[in-house]
Amino acid sequence: MKINVKGFEVPALGLGTYSLRGSRAVEIVTAALDMGYRHIDTARMYGNEREVGQAVHHSTVDRSDVFITTKIWPDDLAYSNVLSCADDSLRNLNTDYVDLLLVHWPSKSIPLSETLPAFEQVRKAGKARLIGVSNFNTAMMAEAVEQHGVDIACNQVEYHPLMSQRRVLDRVRDYGMMLTAYKPIAEGQVLQEPILNRIGDQHGKTAAQVSLRWLIQQQAVAAIPKTGNVDRCRENLEIFDFSLTTEEMDEISTLQARNLRLLDVSLGPVWDQP
Ligand SMILES: NC(=O)c1ccc[n+]([C@@H]2O[C@H](COP(=O)([O-])OP(=O)(O)OC[C@H]3O[C@@H](n4cnc5c(N)ncnc54)[C@H](OP(=O)(O)O)[C@@H]3O)[C@@H](O)[C@H]2O)c1
Repeated sequence: MKINVKGFEVPALGLGTYSLRGSRAVEIVTAALDMGYRHIDTARMYGNEREVGQAVHHSTVDRSDVFITTKIWPDDLAYSNVLSCADDSLRNLNTDYVDLLLVHWPSKSIPLSETLPAFEQVRKAGKARLIGVSNFNTAMMAEAVEQHGVDIACNQVEYHPLMSQRRVLDRVRDYGMMLTAYKPIAEGQVLQEPILNRIGDQHGKTAAQVSLRWLIQQQAVAAIPKTGNVDRCRENLEIFDFSLTTEEMDEISTLQARNLRLLDVSLGPVWDQP
């Protein structure tokens, strides 16, 4: 299943890699590519771009068939730093381009009017196919698109059945973008939910698989679960042989009233209210 965004096809399910380091990162990314993942999410801050690059480089899968996202940390969002960080990421990843380059978190001190032209420059140079943002609220998305006229393709935010992203999702769709859901199984908290387990039992699936399916069945939503375990990596990929009915989608959506935001750090903006 793919999402068409700004003329590019993005696999709806990717592998998150936060906290995967060293040989473990190489092994799990290699295993993921072998079993069919074609979308890998990394970031400069994760300290594993080299390992991701090594796994992709040595894989039998063509580089052109893998969608790689990386992200630039807020301290590095000044114009010249964006350009040098992007080049450094390409060296780490052992590739000529990334598929998607994101602003990892909005900066509190460097204005978007400085950062976004540098991202555009990276894209125009062919070093990033698409550019986007992460952890932006709708006002920041509007600033990027409407005030600065920048064609951002993605907002990567926390999203799972235990919280709503209705406002960001509406805006993403208005702008022809995609929403990539991080923490898509709420760090495992979805496993305790009776509704998800009951619906899973009806389909022969786990609560984690139901959560991932609920996400990617929504228009313009991708999900990037992280695991360091090969069996769970396969489990998370096995969500394309069933679908949720409208009634099941709606019942799962009732859990959003829980309003559980796991990553609420001072780096973040004032989040949109549900
Ligand atoms: N842009 C941002 O600011 C941002 C912030 C946070 C995360 N992210 C990205 O999003 C990715 C995913 O988020 P996340 O890692 O925080 O949370 P997550 O994917 O919701 O949860 C990961 C946790 O769930 C476990 N798990 C994975 N699959 C499972 C399954 N099928 N059944 C039971 N447990 C399972 C993993 O343990 P095991 O490893 O032991 O399986 C791990 O402890 C990150 O790796 C990163 O790439 C981006």
